[in-house]
Amino acid sequence: MSLVFLPPPSNALHFHYHTSNNNHLLLHLPSFISPLLNAPQTHHYHYPRLRRPTTPNLIHSIIKASNQSPATTTTTTSSFRNKSPKDINILVVGSTGYIGRFVVRELSARGFNVVSVARERSGIRGRNDREKTLRDLSGSTVCFSDVTDAEALDRSLAGLGLPIDAAVCCLASRNGGIKDSWNIDYAATKNSLTVARRFGASHFVLLSAICVQKPVLQFQRAKLKFEAELISSSSSSSSSSPPLTYSIVRPTAFFKSLAGQVDLVKDGKPYVMFGDGKLCACKPISEEDLAKFIADCVLDEDKMNKILPVGGPGKALTPLEQGEMLFRLLGKKPKFLKVPIGVMDFAIALLDSLTKVFPALEDAAEFGKIGRYYAAESMLLLDPQTGEYSSEMTPSYGTDTLEDFFQRVIKEGMAGQELGEQTIF
Ligand SMILES: NC(=O)c1ccc[n+]([C@@H]2O[C@H](COP(=O)([O-])OP(=O)(O)OC[C@H]3O[C@@H](n4cnc5c(N)ncnc54)[C@H](OP(=O)(O)O)[C@@H]3O)[C@@H](O)[C@H]2O)c1
Repeated sequence: MSLVFLPPPSNALHFHYHTSNNNHLLLHLPSFISPLLNAPQTHHYHYPRLRRPTTPNLIHSIIKASNQSPATTTTTTSSFRNKSPKDINILVVGSTGYIGRFVVRELSARGFNVVSVARERSGIRGRNDREKTLRDLSGSTVCFSDVTDAEALDRSLAGLGLPIDAAVCCLASRNGGIKDSWNIDYAATKNSLTVARRFGASHFVLLSAICVQKPVLQFQRAKLKFEAELISSSSSSSSSSPPLTYSIVRPTAFFKSLAGQVDLVKDGKPYVMFGDGKLCACKPISEEDLAKFIADCVLDEDKMNKILPVGGPGKALTPLEQGEMLFRLLGKKPKFLKVPIGVMDFAIALLDSLTKVFPALEDAAEFGKIGRYYAAESMLLLDPQTGEYSSEMTPSYGTDTLEDFFQRVIKEGMAGQELGEQTIF
């Protein structure tokens, strides 16, 4: 049996499994051992240097997507909540991600002037060109820039000539690697806050993750470091800039992270889970529902200066229950493959020791740890009294259920639910 990967936070590993009767079960690409075979690939993107307003470069770099009302130039004040949505300018970074796209759509539908920051090539492995990005973000003003370079972002926004009232950050490392997590979940996120503040933003909504409450992984530490700095910037706002408020949204599992086995089970494969299938549970939330919650954070004063854990409707579901649901919807007899969690511990220990000799493997070891984390840790709020995960204490929001989602994926397929570059997020 060789160990491979799986989409967290469902059941975390995919397995390449040969049973004694030579039944061959391939559940996913061996992402965290692939660096053993190939040098990790780095994608290099070229960003045009954006100049001050009126240069042709800038005109081409800041593009108004179709179907939108022109963004309004207004004076930003700390009381932007008193203005009509059409007079409120909201910057969205991470606008091209799984959640970010829905946040742009939701904010635009609510009548805000949305400025979406995007890369020249966006999406998983940069598969989307500018035209596709413009179509996806229609209803907003698309600003092609580089969030990893504060000065470039500053220049791009200067070219728009707009103040910013509030910013929403849905940035995340696309692969969960150590350097990339610190570059994006911390540094680029911080750039976004710094630049948004320079343009007058007085509220910052951060998409974080519920798992940061028990930080073990580098991306969790990177997110927590930014969360702490955001909270402290809010309490130490200077008199020269409007006071800063924040909403930190910590969702449970996304639907995409639980959908990885639908096609396999449909094809007659067993549902793979760790231990007895009850090691972890989550209250999954859809992209649309989470986007609505995030959009609520812009104006709702009761969501201001708070850390907001949020899950979808209904009770928490274990992997065993998710698997049972899937078999029921497919009208198939349940067939489970239970894998001891120790298998992952062995693989991680092996990778950790290899990393000492081959530092290039550090991301591979990190991916193994991410898989292990999501195989055993619930995506629920920790009860501070007991230190246990609590379904009851995890707030529910929205109406979309996992059962409806599974039904849709069974009928229509997985389009739009693809995981990121290492198939772990
Ligand atoms: N998966 C889950 O179940 C789950 C649960 C709870 C919380 N979360 C958290 O939710 C957050 C967002 O998740 P998601 O699935 O929406 O993320 P995603 O689809 O991977 O989107 C990431 C966004 O960040 C941008 N980005 C990444 N690297 C960049 C770079 N080098 N330069 C510029 N932009 C970059 C991406 O732009 P491009 O399109 O240009 O790549 C994209 O807009 C993450 O913080 C995650 O931890 C996830």
